[in-house]
Amino acid sequence: MSTATPPLVEIAEPTNIVIFGATGDLTKRKLLPALITMIDCGLLHPDSRIIGVVNKRTEQEWLELVRAGLQEFSPEVGMDEARWKSFSAMLKMVPGDLEHDTTYTGLAGALETLGGNKNALFYCAIPPEWYGRTAIGLHAAGLVDQSEGFRRIVIEKPFGMDLASAKALNQELQTYFDESQIYRIDHYLGKESVQNLLVYRFANSILEPLWNRNYIDHIQISAAETLGVEYRAKYYEHSGALRDMIQSHLMQVMTLVAMEPPVEFTDTAVRNEKMKVLRAVRRFKPEDATCHAMAAQYAAGTIDGEHVPAYVSEPGVSPDSSTETFAAVRFHIDNWRWQGVPFILWTGKRMQKRVSEIVIRFRNLPFNLFDSHATPPVANAMVFRLHPDEGIFLRMNAKMPGLTTDTQRMVMRAPYAKDGMDVAEAYETLLHDVLLGDATLFSRADEVEESWEIVAPLQEAWKERVSIERYRAGSWNVPDMDDLMHDCVGGWHKPQ
Ligand code: BG6
Repeated sequence: MSTATPPLVEIAEPTNIVIFGATGDLTKRKLLPALITMIDCGLLHPDSRIIGVVNKRTEQEWLELVRAGLQEFSPEVGMDEARWKSFSAMLKMVPGDLEHDTTYTGLAGALETLGGNKNALFYCAIPPEWYGRTAIGLHAAGLVDQSEGFRRIVIEKPFGMDLASAKALNQELQTYFDESQIYRIDHYLGKESVQNLLVYRFANSILEPLWNRNYIDHIQISAAETLGVEYRAKYYEHSGALRDMIQSHLMQVMTLVAMEPPVEFTDTAVRNEKMKVLRAVRRFKPEDATCHAMAAQYAAGTIDGEHVPAYVSEPGVSPDSSTETFAAVRFHIDNWRWQGVPFILWTGKRMQKRVSEIVIRFRNLPFNLFDSHATPPVANAMVFRLHPDEGIFLRMNAKMPGLTTDTQRMVMRAPYAKDGMDVAEAYETLLHDVLLGDATLFSRADEVEESWEIVAPLQEAWKERVSIERYRAGSWNVPDMDDLMHDCVGGWHKPQ
């Protein structure tokens, strides 16, 4: 009898990974590098294939494009002849555009010819307006049927632009695929540090007694970026920070922070708990758009010593645009655990630093026992750093060395990954999970609709906006943030 320890990480069955949008940016920057790392770690079955659906290019031209992309984003393969040869042997191209049925029947034919391996994952790395058409085409070509192997479809963000469009998309996808075959990606949930939050919460008994309204004053969940809008003005002008980051990534993180312990670590149990949080989020009234939320836009400034232009001077942005590049929303969760604890979710482009974190601010001390003329002790805080320097920090008060009882702040740091230890990229984790059929880190249809419903009154109120407050790029000088958090212990936490 073998006594070998089973591998810690399960390896998925051989799968045909079909990428729609195989010449696009996401494929080049994220998907192919993630698949290469999975191959290197032995997480992709060697009989798997990567099939690009490509329009107006020969296979040779596509392969050249893929290689050029890898030279930039996965140089260990792109620059190494032998490794490229072995990787490119896994690649296959199917010609055609998304509009025509022949593309999907051609794909079905190609999958048939490849033989043996009947599992297929369809990755929609394409503009959202094509998701529905692709689902129809796959269905019509008989590619949704799971009698010979699994068939799963991965949908990228943005999933709709509002409640109505998200509902319509859900309905369209669910006409052709079963909900269990649909994987809606939110790459924040694939971040190691976000998953680690669940372990911190549910594998440590000391946190649970503190994790509620009795001890916590408020929670801040943030994503500050130094990048501007880059080349994405066409999308971002209609999206803005509320849709781009808050409705999706940050609200998803909020559900993990706020949810009750699930009864088991399965996709259904975890997603049921997340959904309960969303259902308990207090609905905004139209007037809340000004007192429970704020928006601003970056003006020109300096980041890391370099001058950066104002949002309105970025390529593709209208000079009189009032799209928000910073947004903050104050949520309340009306349940026993969180009543009265504001959750402030904020995000901004062109901020001073790229930092994303969850800050748990505890209540103030009931009174200060120590030297009244010294600096009073500050409220305790626990920070979960999502990036960079993933880890957990606990702010305490300690005695100042010397003969007095003056206090000083002390920060206990527990980095998550030690130097040199690999932290999986979000897309590796998520692709691996789709291959295994684990939907825990993907948003379910009802979650997506519920979160759109929550932000709908803010969207409605912001729709008519004609002017917007500005903040200098590279600064934390965002107007109104202090007002939004006027009653929160310690105020706005600007990442250090
Ligand atoms: C994307 C947004 O979903 O997330 C981008 O569309 C944003 O605007 C990005 O820059 C941030 O992701 P990360 O992993 O860099 O924090």
